[in-house]
Amino acid sequence: MSPPPVLFYVVSIALLLINTNADHDSGGFVQFTYSGPQGPGNWGKLSPEYDACSSGKHQSPIDIVTEKVVLNQTLKPLLRQYGSTNATMHNSGLSIGMQYGKEAGVITVEGRNYSLKQMHWHSPSEHRLNGVQFDAELHIVHQAEDGSRAAVGILYRFGRADSLLARMHKKLAELSKQKSEHHQDVHVTVGTFDLKQVERVTRTRNYYKYYGSLTTPPCSENVIWHILGRVRSISKEQVDALRHPLEPGCRNNTRPMQELNGRVVQLFNNVNNF
Ligand SMILES: *[C@@H]1O[C@H](CO)[C@@H](O)[C@H](O)[C@H]1NC(C)=O
Ligand SMILES: *[C@@H]1O[C@H](CO)[C@@H](O)[C@H](O)[C@H]1NC(C)=O
Ligand SMILES: *[C@@H]1O[C@H](CO)[C@@H](O)[C@H](O)[C@H]1NC(C)=O
Repeated sequence: MSPPPVLFYVVSIALLLINTNADHDSGGFVQFTYSGPQGPGNWGKLSPEYDACSSGKHQSPIDIVTEKVVLNQTLKPLLRQYGSTNATMHNSGLSIGMQYGKEAGVITVEGRNYSLKQMHWHSPSEHRLNGVQFDAELHIVHQAEDGSRAAVGILYRFGRADSLLARMHKKLAELSKQKSEHHQDVHVTVGTFDLKQVERVTRTRNYYKYYGSLTTPPCSENVIWHILGRVRSISKEQVDALRHPLEPGCRNNTRPMQELNGRVVQLFNNVNNF
């Protein structure tokens, strides 16, 4: 490959001087936030790789209007086989999450296995039910070998503490001592993590399924979403602990609702299967 012409460098440096916020880190990641010029309304303009954020027709999150949902009797309970694996807890500045090593487990959707990769929290919630926004939302993300994803979303409203997060309390406190700046990922190791509890809290009698996207850039439209019908509870303190370590423009890390564009949300409801 021949080196780029000198003009390239001149223009690049000029652009960097004009807009120091638009820097790319070593991974080619273009910075985005949840407010201001790099907020959700402009994600699609920040990088050609983020094009789907503005031009995509199957974007997430959405408002699930129960009156328009279609009961699908062929849907099955969520089929997961989670084990235990090593894990790390991360603060990307944009959200707090956990990443899992190999062998974390799989979810089987439409006859296909997706490996559990990570989970992360948003507050307030991204998905809505009949227009209602909840206090927090957990996304559990699984990925197949070709990169397509199957995600499970859990909505939370303020109330009693969530047992899953309670278990991670110490690690979260440890993580929040290291502040993330300029989207530098900071993390702490968690050690071996038993995912049976994640399986337990996601056991559900009903869920909403639809085809959507990642809710952060690059907004790739390769995600099969399963939003649990059962809203769980989380304490105000727990949500504060998830927000406090984030960057100031990202403490509300919620992407606005996206158009359905003709998509139909399906309902799995166990009661009707008996
Ligand atoms: C799990 O352990 C392997 C091997 O030590 C390591 O390469 C990997 O990064 C770890 N993953 C996480 C998420 O901690
Ligand atoms: C999916 O994974 C489970 C558990 O590892 C395994 O038993 C099953 O055979 C896999 N199914 C497919 C379609 O690969
Ligand atoms: C952040 O979300 C909270 C609700 O959780 C809301 O009360 C507040 O107005 C939001 N702040 C901004 C800057 O959007």
